[in-house]
Amino acid sequence: MLLNYFLTILSSPMAVMTLGKVVSHPMPSLYEQSRLFDLEVDGEKMHTVSYAQYDYAHLSMDGGHSTIFRVTALGEEEITSYSISPHRLNINARVDGNELIFSLAEPRYLIIKINSVKEFVVLVDPTETAVPNIKDDDVYNVLDYGADNTGESLNDGIQNALDAAGKHPGSTVYVPKGLYLAPNLKIRNHTSLYLASGAVLRFTGHSADYETMYTKSDLGPGTWWIQTEFDSTDIKVYGRGVLDGNGKYTRDNDFMNDILVPAGTKNFECDGILVRDSGFWAVTPIQVEDATLTNIKILNRLDVTQDDGIDVVESQRVRVKRSIAIANDDSYSTKTWPYKTGTTVPYPYPPRRQDDVVFDDCFAWTGCMGFKVGQGVHEHQDNIRFQNSAIYKAGVGIAVHHLFGNSTASNITFEDIEIERLAGSPGGFASWLLLIIQEGGRGVGSVEDIVVRNILARTQGSRPGFIQGYNDKVKVDGVTLSNIYMYANATPATTLEEMNILNTNYSEDIDIDNSLLGGIVGPIIHT
Ligand SMILES: *[C@@H]1O[C@H](CO)[C@@H](O)[C@H](O)[C@H]1NC(C)=O
Ligand SMILES: *[C@@H]1O[C@H](CO)[C@@H](O)[C@H](O)[C@H]1NC(C)=O
Ligand SMILES: *[C@@H]1O[C@H](CO)[C@@H](O)[C@H](O)[C@H]1NC(C)=O
Ligand SMILES: *[C@@H]1O[C@H](CO)[C@@H](O)[C@H](O)[C@H]1NC(C)=O
Repeated sequence: MLLNYFLTILSSPMAVMTLGKVVSHPMPSLYEQSRLFDLEVDGEKMHTVSYAQYDYAHLSMDGGHSTIFRVTALGEEEITSYSISPHRLNINARVDGNELIFSLAEPRYLIIKINSVKEFVVLVDPTETAVPNIKDDDVYNVLDYGADNTGESLNDGIQNALDAAGKHPGSTVYVPKGLYLAPNLKIRNHTSLYLASGAVLRFTGHSADYETMYTKSDLGPGTWWIQTEFDSTDIKVYGRGVLDGNGKYTRDNDFMNDILVPAGTKNFECDGILVRDSGFWAVTPIQVEDATLTNIKILNRLDVTQDDGIDVVESQRVRVKRSIAIANDDSYSTKTWPYKTGTTVPYPYPPRRQDDVVFDDCFAWTGCMGFKVGQGVHEHQDNIRFQNSAIYKAGVGIAVHHLFGNSTASNITFEDIEIERLAGSPGGFASWLLLIIQEGGRGVGSVEDIVVRNILARTQGSRPGFIQGYNDKVKVDGVTLSNIYMYANATPATTLEEMNILNTNYSEDIDIDNSLLGGIVGPIIHT
């Protein structure tokens, strides 16, 4: 009976017409409101944040309801041009003076460009489920452990709560709304860290406040800001709060930080958090087995070098799903490194191979490469997939860049990806596709069995692409290119020349196979 009742409600048109819930995540006190954009969602005003090369807004909404978004470009008389990315969502908008109006039925991460104003990034998450109850016995409120939610003082309150929770497996540390300066933090075995909407942990930017854990030869000293305990299992970091790396300031002070480092841990989960302004690679699963990262938003600056979004390192069975990563350096990449060298000094274990990593429904904006395997291939990297994703802008769209190490990168698939724009030339490369082996002074190794399928390259880049090995023995071997659509062409490219891939020395078994046309062309092929 009850089931029938629910089914009736779900299928009744009335239920569809009711408004879904919309939550504007509060703007922390240290951020300024955007002076360029207002955002109203279903008639409710959202917080909009003034930031670096783009402004943004963060909210959550229920899926399954048509929800009206109204973006006002405050400094513009009228909107004469606009784009809403990912284009593959085909969002129809209308203009009313200086307002752009559209609706979403599902939560999405969008990059909106209006006239020549800087971009407005609209981050819409699904409504939170399973919010911990702060009154429960197994929930540890950091305020009960001396944490300062005014952002005035740096203290051990949060770590004390993490340590207390660590004594009770299955418990959760709760960070309520507020601004917290945070030192190095270690999340304990079998515990969760929950960041409530409006909670911001902030890195101070001063090396004296942190443990120097490694020194990178070209950049200097750095730290893992928030890490998991080694040899741990079942750690989760979630909520709609913010981890603010204060990275530009940190780098100006000759220090750097990885923001969230699950390392030497199993069954790791991360969901819903917003990571901002990293001073080095932002989120880096290192030597992790079985990890799921969902709804992670990386908002790095476009003027901090080497501030990658999500880098998966020497891990097995990692899923990154429904994410956006904006960064000056690579948005999403996978790497393996040498033992105890520079940034790998704090790694828990000797080098491990990377196996079975999937990036699904990810959205990249970067000055470097959107989706990349490399540059480190010191251990075998095998079975890596990037799928169902989009690039707003990049220097190089998709890449296997084997620059360091003598191991093999194999069985790598890029599928259902739209590359909207390319600009710049990181490392001298400027193409939609780069599969290359180079010698960076630490050995060379081969690249094998690559599939590039169902790609829309809206632009080819200002330089020819590469499918190029190193020499007669170290080759790029086995590349299948299927359904590669260049520009707005209605038919897929049939030659490497049409794809502008003109550098093919030391490669073999390159196959262009469009026989799947009409099969899984998927949602990205539209005119
Ligand atoms: C974490 O818990 C697991 C049991 O699930 C145990 O095997 C492991 O040693 C613990 N790790 C630490 C660092 O205490
Ligand atoms: C290649 O990767 C796919 C998943 O992307 C996996 O199903 C398959 O088993 C792998 N093949 C080999 C030979 O490792
Ligand atoms: C590959 O590199 C490792 C580590 O640098 C080294 O020990 C090994 O001898 C190298 N193997 C080959 C075949 O060059
Ligand atoms: C490819 O090989 C040819 C012949 O050796 C050489 O002239 C050319 O510079 C090579 N291209 C690249 C991009 O290395």
